[in-house]
Amino acid sequence: MRVFICGFGTVGQGLCEVLADRAQFFLDRYGEPVIVTGAMDSRTFILAPQGIAPLDLVARKKGSGRVGDESYTDSTAVLEQAEYDILVEVSPTDVKTGGAGLVNITYALNHGKDVITVNKGPLALKFCELISLARKNKCKLRFEGSVAGAMPIINLCHENLKGERISSIRGIFNGTCNFILSKMDKGQPFEQALKEAQQMGYAETDPTNDIEGYDSACKVAILANSIFGRNVTFNDVKITGITGITDEAVAMAASRNMVIRLIGEISETRLEVGPRLVPKGHPLSISGTLNTALIQADLAGPITITGRGAGRIETASAILSDLIAIMDERRNRR
Ligand SMILES: NC(=O)c1ccc[n+]([C@@H]2O[C@H](COP(=O)([O-])OP(=O)(O)OC[C@H]3O[C@@H](n4cnc5c(N)ncnc54)[C@H](OP(=O)(O)O)[C@@H]3O)[C@@H](O)[C@H]2O)c1
Repeated sequence: MRVFICGFGTVGQGLCEVLADRAQFFLDRYGEPVIVTGAMDSRTFILAPQGIAPLDLVARKKGSGRVGDESYTDSTAVLEQAEYDILVEVSPTDVKTGGAGLVNITYALNHGKDVITVNKGPLALKFCELISLARKNKCKLRFEGSVAGAMPIINLCHENLKGERISSIRGIFNGTCNFILSKMDKGQPFEQALKEAQQMGYAETDPTNDIEGYDSACKVAILANSIFGRNVTFNDVKITGITGITDEAVAMAASRNMVIRLIGEISETRLEVGPRLVPKGHPLSISGTLNTALIQADLAGPITITGRGAGRIETASAILSDLIAIMDERRNRR
C-alpha cells in the first residue's frame, strides 16, 4: 500500500513513527508493507516511488527543517507526479477557505485515490461535497482523527453503533478550553490559565480558534454531517466561546456543586457550542485536557467515551485505524 503524506509537522511525523513501529503488523496482516512514496511540507516535497523509510523522512525534517530537496508552488502538480494509493492529508486547518487541504483532498478524490485526513477545515466547510465526490469516484474518505484525536467517536458510531438511532451527542471537543476551565475551577483567573496552557504547549500563540469555540464548532459540524446525515457547515453552528466566563460565574457554579464546561451539542435540530453548567461528577464534568462525548443511542442508551483529543502519536493512532479500515476493505474485495 503506497501512502503520500501532505503536511509534515507534528501529525505527519507522528504517523511516520507509527508506520515504522507497526511495519511487522502490516506484513503479518496483509502480506504487504505500507510504504511512504512521498511527502510535502509547506515549501518542499520528496517523491520516492519505491518508498522511503518513514523514520528517514522524520530525520530529514528534523535535521534540515525541510522534508524534501525540491521546492514547489502548486501542490497538485506534485500530486500529479506522485505514485500513491492513499493520500494522508495533515496540513494546517483553514476554516475560512479550506486551504491547501481542500485543494489536495479534492485533487486526490478526483483522481480515484482514497484519502485519510485529520484536517478539520475542508470537512467543516465542504463535507457533503467531498463525500459525494468520493462516492462518485468510488473512493474512501476517512477522517476519524478530525474530531477528538484518538477518541474513536466517528468509527464507533459508524461501525459498532450502526444499528442504533443516535438522538444526540454532547461533548467536550477542545482540550485547551477544558484545561483553562479546570484551572479556573481551582481559582485561577482566565488570563493566567490561558498563559499556563500556552506555556505547556496546549494553546497556540494565537489561541482564538480554541477559546472562541471555533475549533469545537468544526468538530460539531463534522459530527452533524457524518453521524446525523445533516448538510451543515461550520458557519451554521451557533458558537459561544469561553472568553466571557468570569471568575464570579465559576464560583457561583461551584457553590451549586457545578462546573462550567465548553460543550458541543449535536442532534437533528441542535448545532451549538457554548459554555454550559454541568453537575460535578457528571461524565461531561471532566477536568484537564481530555476530550469526552456522551452519545445517546435508542437501544444501548447513553454511552460515554473519553480520550486524548490531540497529540503526535495519539492523532496518528486515529489515522492508523482509518488506514487499517481501508486495507481491510480492499483485502475483502479481492
Ligand atoms: N496536532 C494534533 O494533535 C492534531 C490533532 C487533530 C487534528 N490535527 C490537525 O492535523 C493537521 C496538522 O496538524 P499538526 O499539529 O501536524 O500541524 P503542524 O505541526 O503545524 O504541521 C503542519 C505541517 O503542514 C505543512 N504545511 C503548511 N502549509 C502547507 C501547505 N500549503 N501544503 C502542504 N503542507 C503544508 C507544514 O509545513 P512546514 O513544516 O514547512 O511549516 C507542516 O509540515 C491540522 O489540520 C490540525 O488541525 C492536529
